[in-house]
Amino acid sequence: MLFAQASCLLALTAVVAAAPFEKVEKRWGGWGGGWGGNGRPWWSPSAASSYLEFGKRYPGSNTAAPTCDLSQVTLPTASTPLPAPAAGLSLSHVAIGRGTQNYTCDLANATATPVAIGAVATLFNVSCVAADSPDLLQKLPSIALDLPVPSTANEDSAAYQDMSGHHFFTDSSTPFFDMDTSLHSYGTGAFKKTNTSAAPAGAPLGQYGVGNGSVAWLKLDAKSSDGQIFQEVYRTLTAGGNPGNYCTGMPAAFEVQYAAAYFLFEKP
Ligand SMILES: *[C@@H]1O[C@H](CO)[C@@H](O)[C@H](O)[C@H]1NC(C)=O
Ligand SMILES: *[C@@H]1O[C@H](CO)[C@@H](O)[C@H](O)[C@H]1NC(C)=O
Ligand SMILES: *[C@@H]1O[C@H](CO)[C@@H](O)[C@H](O)[C@H]1NC(C)=O
Ligand SMILES: *[C@@H]1O[C@H](CO)[C@@H](O)[C@H](O)[C@H]1NC(C)=O
Ligand SMILES: *[C@@H]1O[C@H](CO)[C@@H](O)[C@H](O)[C@H]1NC(C)=O
Repeated sequence: MLFAQASCLLALTAVVAAAPFEKVEKRWGGWGGGWGGNGRPWWSPSAASSYLEFGKRYPGSNTAAPTCDLSQVTLPTASTPLPAPAAGLSLSHVAIGRGTQNYTCDLANATATPVAIGAVATLFNVSCVAADSPDLLQKLPSIALDLPVPSTANEDSAAYQDMSGHHFFTDSSTPFFDMDTSLHSYGTGAFKKTNTSAAPAGAPLGQYGVGNGSVAWLKLDAKSSDGQIFQEVYRTLTAGGNPGNYCTGMPAAFEVQYAAAYFLFEKP
């Protein structure tokens, strides 16, 4: 247990410590990058400090993956509370999603407003942080928002050891979670939006503090409860992602940077 706590926090420390590099020197290569130039990547096993060995825990590692007591995790409460998870479901996984919300504008219509067409995000496993450091979890989406969008090209690198999977839409009303990677098979699931709650006052305006606000918190239910382990998903602690109210001056399709904490519930 202690090991799990320590490794989660250290992994996060690396991400948090990276943020100033991105803004000031542009030397941080992103979630899958590490410090470029003459700096060593933080996961480098050749670096002096022994804690960097945590980076070797998967796969073929001689240290087991951490396990955390997710039964102790409290789902963050929305400004207007979302319905509770259905009886009998249990929390399976908590992930930070970092990507974009995509929108279209009808340029032929002078009074058109942006229409949401879906999201694309890479998901990072923060189950242990949710279990052990809920205060830290609260801050992670806004930290993640100011880091670059992860590059799928780097997903086989060691820095992606804690990638949970991918979030995308299979059509404009079907959010999908693919939590299977080359390192694990947590499961997949297709969902539909069943409830929504505006992001609370004080939610980030957008990346680097500039933008049109944070997308709503959501409850998603499985499109079909059969055939998938994940039954309900909550999108919480949103950071960014909102389009403006108007299409004036916008292109026909555009993206808005966002991050959020996703809580996935499974059936017994
Ligand atoms: C990743 O998620 C699983 C549950 O899906 C959990 O058991 C594991 O401890 C998590 N790892 C971290 C680093 O949070
Ligand atoms: C959303 O959840 C709230 C609180 O449980 C409930 O009052 C409301 O009817 C729900 N809205 C929809 C569209 O289901
Ligand atoms: C939506 O966003 C993804 C990720 O940035 C991008 O690959 C895709 O082309 C976008 N779709 C549209 C219609 O803009
Ligand atoms: C133009 O956009 C407005 C706002 O979304 C909408 O109410 C209206 O129906 C649209 N007009 C056409 C011709 O699509
Ligand atoms: C906010 O929305 C307006 C349109 O309503 C748009 O012009 C502007 O670019 C948006 N700002 C950001 C940072 O997305």
